[in-house]
Amino acid sequence: MTERYPKYTVHDGFRMPMGFPVEGFESGQRYKPEATDIFVATYPKCGTTWTQYIVYLLLHGGQPLAEGQRLDVLFPHLEEIGDAAVRALPTPRLIKTHLVLERTPWHAEAKYLYVARNPFDCAVSFYHHTRGFPKHYDFADGTWDVFFECFVRGEVDFGDYFDHLMSWWPKRSAPNVLFLTYERMLDDPAAAVQTIARFLGGAATRVAADPKMVECVVEQSSFGKMRVNQRRWSSARPADMPEFVRKGVAGDWVNHFSAAQSRRLAERLLARTQGTGAESLWPGLVHAAVGNNSEVAT
Ligand code: A3P
Repeated sequence: MTERYPKYTVHDGFRMPMGFPVEGFESGQRYKPEATDIFVATYPKCGTTWTQYIVYLLLHGGQPLAEGQRLDVLFPHLEEIGDAAVRALPTPRLIKTHLVLERTPWHAEAKYLYVARNPFDCAVSFYHHTRGFPKHYDFADGTWDVFFECFVRGEVDFGDYFDHLMSWWPKRSAPNVLFLTYERMLDDPAAAVQTIARFLGGAATRVAADPKMVECVVEQSSFGKMRVNQRRWSSARPADMPEFVRKGVAGDWVNHFSAAQSRRLAERLLARTQGTGAESLWPGLVHAAVGNNSEVAT
């Protein structure tokens, strides 16, 4: 029996979900940002939706989305909808992108929130996502082993996880970039909300100064609330829409990875990050993945 692989639209050497308009991908990269723009830039499945909603709440005084409002309309995906649709957004424009830094429209004063997540949990989340969107990937009955191979080779939509992380990593200290990790956000969501608020400035700074408002944003953007609400927000979406708010934990990878897979991804992680500082983003991860295997030098 031949293995089923996820299908993609390949354009300009780049894999996109099937059905993503090539025009959006092309024109989105030509978009000229404004100083007031706020980007949430991530590799897929690294906490994009969560961060988008925190930003949204901070800019709207903690007021949750009303019935019928959709986050993906208010805070759309640049390379899906393209330049013209983004230019039509109200100011400040809220923009999501999964593009590597080199392809992301850049403005020295626009704000970029980058969220990194450990590649092990990212791969698992991406696997569930890829199975969950048959119209984009035709992989509804695909296996973890096949998806893992695609992920570890970087043959998935939006490219290689490590190319993405390592393109943004050198920009992490730029004054208009806030580099976050999903795991630290999970550890202390209130601190994350405050950090994001200070970075956004303006009205969001006032939220950061008020512990009750911080608590409100943490509560509205909590996993439990977002999980329930995603059904309301996504009522207009097709029935085959998978959950963007699925499990929301760190460490789920241990339930999917074989010992050989853990080792391969740990080797990739080390090969791509060692000596850059990024190898310290997830302390203990490589050790957890390879145990005391001395062939993988940590
Ligand atoms: P899991 O699939 O591991 O549960 P993205 O928005 O980039 O697609 O990321 C999706 C991942 O973020 C999913 O991970 C999802 O459950 C998690 N997530 C979404 N909202 C969250 C929240 N409020 N708190 C914690 N995790 C959240």
